[in-house]
Amino acid sequence: MPFVPVLLGTTREANKSAAVARAAHKLLQDLGADSQVLDIGDPLIPPLVERRRMLDQVDPAVEAHGQALDRADALVVVVPEYNWGIPGVLKNALDHFLPELKRKPVGVIPVSAGGGGGRCALVQTRTVLSAMGMVVVPETCLIAQVHRLLDDAGEIGEPDTLKHMGRVVEQVLWWEHAARLKRAVSDDTPSR
Ligand SMILES: Cc1cc2nc3c(=O)[nH]c(=O)nc-3n(C[C@H](O)[C@H](O)[C@H](O)COP(=O)(O)O)c2cc1C
Repeated sequence: MPFVPVLLGTTREANKSAAVARAAHKLLQDLGADSQVLDIGDPLIPPLVERRRMLDQVDPAVEAHGQALDRADALVVVVPEYNWGIPGVLKNALDHFLPELKRKPVGVIPVSAGGGGGRCALVQTRTVLSAMGMVVVPETCLIAQVHRLLDDAGEIGEPDTLKHMGRVVEQVLWWEHAARLKRAVSDDTPSR
């Protein structure tokens, strides 16, 4: 069973992206994956002093997230759009890592309050993840006006949104399977 965590890309206390991350987590489980929401605010990833792989003494929060990312076969990133871009805390969190993520498939789901669906955050996040050697799947799901999609329990219950999110998740699992088959033939994944 593949392990596919969902990285929540904000530390904002009242964030609405967590509901999207929970929905993605559930979709992954429904499709047979092992999953968990990785919240960069819990434990809080500190500002970068040096990358995890360069350190003898690693901050416990960085180590906890690093071990989960090491274990991950693929990833889904939920990114809210802040000022037409990727939240600084998410970029900081990602900068701690690289071999933990290299050559792993990733789907990006952007979230916004406005009507644009977080398109700018999507483009920036894709660029960053590609630079880190991840395989960004083409499918995405722009979550616009997220506050309108939450039900009384604060969850994403809107069927169309879940359907579109499901397509992203399915594609991530497809690429995870492809990567798994490749490794079975010859595992030349760069050492971590
Ligand atoms: C610092 C900051 C900047 C924001 N900039 C944008 C923006 O550029 N475009 C937009 O549609 N919404 C913007 N928003 C609203 C968020 O998209 C909105 O809060 C949405 O719920 C997703 O973020 P959240 O997960 O933090 O709630 C901004 C919110 C914050 C906190």
